[in-house]
Amino acid sequence: MKIAVVGATGLVGREVVKILLDNNVVEKDDLTLYASKSSAGMLVLFEKHEFEILELNKRTIKKFDYVFFCAGKNVALEYAQTFINKGAVVIDNSSAFRRSKNVPLIVPEINLQLAVGAKLIANPNCSTIGVSLPLYYLSKQHSIKRVVVSTYQAVSGAGQKGIEDLQNGTNKKFAYQIANNLIPQIDSLLANGYTFEEDKMSFELKKILQNRFLKVCATCVRVPILNCHSESINIEFENEPNIRDLRKILSGAQGVCMCDNLKNNIYPMPSEANGKDEVFVGRIRKDISNKRAINMFICFDNIRKGAALNAVQIVQGLERLKGKK
Ligand SMILES: NC(=O)c1ccc[n+]([C@@H]2O[C@H](COP(=O)([O-])OP(=O)(O)OC[C@H]3O[C@@H](n4cnc5c(N)ncnc54)[C@H](OP(=O)(O)O)[C@@H]3O)[C@@H](O)[C@H]2O)c1
Repeated sequence: MKIAVVGATGLVGREVVKILLDNNVVEKDDLTLYASKSSAGMLVLFEKHEFEILELNKRTIKKFDYVFFCAGKNVALEYAQTFINKGAVVIDNSSAFRRSKNVPLIVPEINLQLAVGAKLIANPNCSTIGVSLPLYYLSKQHSIKRVVVSTYQAVSGAGQKGIEDLQNGTNKKFAYQIANNLIPQIDSLLANGYTFEEDKMSFELKKILQNRFLKVCATCVRVPILNCHSESINIEFENEPNIRDLRKILSGAQGVCMCDNLKNNIYPMPSEANGKDEVFVGRIRKDISNKRAINMFICFDNIRKGAALNAVQIVQGLERLKGKK
């Protein structure tokens, strides 16, 4: 199987390469790494294997089985179709295609089947992937009416430059100093007073959960944490839920790790989720102001399950389904 990673020098691209090699999804010689002109010819080391970075342009595009796009919206819009024309299935990490009607938006534990046969597959936004998993499992047994989410998003969510801003006190990515601060704006401003990041949460959750009636309201905040997004979630159900039932549903759920024992100071935290595959869920409790609602707190590695891992799991899932035919 031949695979390419576009944006292989970036945070998400590097993690995709690492996971592909760690999980033996591809042989080293069948993996091609692309980045921008400024990285062309650069030698990068992954798990003792040396790779030369190719400049992405129309002349360097070859035939692949799968191509992971981890280079932003504009690069995806310019080059995805050329890879597809040469026979590849493209998995894009940007927001370029997520809202297109015939592009499936995939979290494999939830809706992998929709990706079968697709040539272009969109990976959801990092903060949406995290919350989508507990919501999906709970909604299978308890109808959900409304979700209110407040995020605490790590600087790695803004790419390499976001990390540099926290570590070096620069302003390459953020409008304000991020150290000892937090910024209640992620992405551009919309006419209704929300940000595009908040709108992504609402649109993408409805698409992934196939529930256009779901009410979603989000506030997205950048915090001075290197890696792992956290989210406080208020979920209102149609009927009053039993907390013990909800805990039981999430305890055995694929991709979720329950981390909920306040008495013993056990709850999801970035330091615990860093480098892990699961969405950690804890602080599950009744909403004392609404008997049909609950609160929970989640934390997950935004570079892994929020981006790279989810994208690789899509390919692994599709290959597994092919094997079953
Ligand atoms: N970080 C997250 O938590 C996260 C989560 C979900 C989705 N995403 C999405 O994933 C994508 C990558 O994000 P990131 O955080 O990895 O960003 P990043 O660290 O800034 O990396 C950007 C990558 O894109 C490459 N690139 C830029 N212009 C290019 C061009 N013209 N041709 C080819 N490659 C080009 C860069 O190559 P050079 O090094 O050569 O410049 C670099 O490899 C974005 O769409 C982002 O929205 C990120």
